[in-house]
Parts: sequence; C-alpha cells; structure tokens
Amino acid sequence: MGVPGLDELMGGGTLRGNAVLIAGPVGSGKTTAAVQFIAEGIKHQEPGVVVIFEETTPKYLDQAKALGVHLEEMSRQGLVEIVYVRPLDLSMDETLYAIQAAVDKVGAKRVVLDSISGLEAALAPAFKEDFLESLYRLLGALTGVGVTIVLTVEVSEAYNEMQFTPHPISFLTHDIVLQRYFEIDGELRTFLTVVKTRARGHSRELRAYDVTSNGIVVGKRLSEFTGVITAVPHRRDPGDK
Ligand SMILES: Nc1ncnc2c1ncn2[C@@H]1O[C@H](COP(=O)(O)OP(=O)(O)O)[C@@H](O)[C@H]1O
Ligand SMILES: [Mg+2]
Repeated sequence: MGVPGLDELMGGGTLRGNAVLIAGPVGSGKTTAAVQFIAEGIKHQEPGVVVIFEETTPKYLDQAKALGVHLEEMSRQGLVEIVYVRPLDLSMDETLYAIQAAVDKVGAKRVVLDSISGLEAALAPAFKEDFLESLYRLLGALTGVGVTIVLTVEVSEAYNEMQFTPHPISFLTHDIVLQRYFEIDGELRTFLTVVKTRARGHSRELRAYDVTSNGIVVGKRLSEFTGVITAVPHRRDPGDK
C-alpha cells in the first residue's frame, strides 16, 4: 500500500486486482494514502493512474509534491497519468472511457479514484442513477485484468457513531480501511482500522496515525483507551487488564 504499517494490518497488504476502499472524514488523510499507494507502485515498476474529481490538477500535484511524490515528473516519464474530471462535465460512460484510455496509455497496474464522493458529485444529475452500476462495470473491467484500485470516499457521519459500511459501494470493494477522528486531551486525533479484506485475515486493532510530510505514519494500538469508536474515549485505568 505504500503506507508503512498498513500492509501488516491488512494481512500482508492487498492482493493484485483488488479494489481497496479508504473511507474517512475530510482531512483524515485519504488523498495522502492514495498518493503513497501510487508512489509505491512506481518504486516497483507499476505505472499508475490517478483520477481526481475535487481538486484541480495543479493543486493535487502540489499536495503530492509536499509529500515528496513528484507526480508531474512521473507523468512526464510516462509512469503516471492524471485524469481530472470536472464537475457536471461528463457522463459516466465518458468518464469510464477517459479512465480506461489513461490505463491503456501508461499500462497502469494501479488506479486511484479520489474520491468516489467527488465522482458522484461530478456527474450530471441524469447519470447519477446509473452510478453504482457503472462503477461496478469499471471496477470489474480493471480488477479483471489485474489492476489494483484504491478508491477514497468521504464519510460524514455522526460524531458518536462509526459506519462500518461507509458507502453503498462498500460491497463492490474487496478491502476496506476506515479512518476516524477522536478527541483526547483537547486534541483531534486520528485512528484507522481495517474492517474487511478478501481471502485473508487482517488485524482488528485500532491504530493511531498521523499525517506528516512523509505521508501517513501508523502508530500504536490504542490500548490505553476504551470507547475510541464513540469518538470520545476514556483512558483506561492503568490497573485494568
Ligand atoms: N505534506 C504534508 N505535511 C503535513 N501535513 C500534511 C501534508 N499533506 C497533508 N497534510 C495534512 O493532512 C491532512 C489530510 O490531508 P488529505 O490527505 O488531503 O485528507 P483527505 O483527502 O482525507 O481530505 C490535511 O488536513 C493536512 O493538514
Ligand atoms: Mg482528499
């Protein structure tokens, strides 16, 4: 995945041809994780396609650059293709066509869709009905030829509940990573957990993490707290076992 520590939590990483959903609230580091996934691919001679729907291309490139990932340079070398889908611009079929063309152009082994919420919003109203079906076709076509996909989705959930099925597309994805905020000591902190993997076991730990200029840094298991998924945890009594 390119995020140190995450592969271990996912039972050794994802599998080729899987669709991995990264779900979390705004600012929780979904784009950061997606950029790391693409950068890791380049290290292993696996070209990538990044499909963006929210940020404009220059802003997205800047964000990646701040993480030390030079997408522009990679794109010049034919290793990465960026597809920017402008709001209300395209039909789902046109969008899918643009993605497939980019995949073919660089021979992509990894694709990022950042974010599915953005894709849904970018579609003209007439196409929203077919969204799930079209996405199903896209994921099937790509994963069927061994392309591994990371999809991000924005979850806007009640502060005190955790959605384990964060989006209707959850059932189309093989692996699901959830990112979440919680409050402790007057600070907004983040944790992540793996809720599903296909064909292998995974950790069920809640792990603290930070978003840094080196990307996501997965920290330790939140064993000193209870009620982290309520977002307002309590520190465990040190005597508790
Ligand atoms: N290069 C960086 N250095 C330090 N923090 C960063 C960097 N890039 C992003 N962040 C922080 O990480 C947060 C999440 O970024 P992002 O991955 O864009 O989240 P999301 O895509 O989930 O909205 C931002 O609010 C920002 O504070
Ligand atoms: Mg983002």
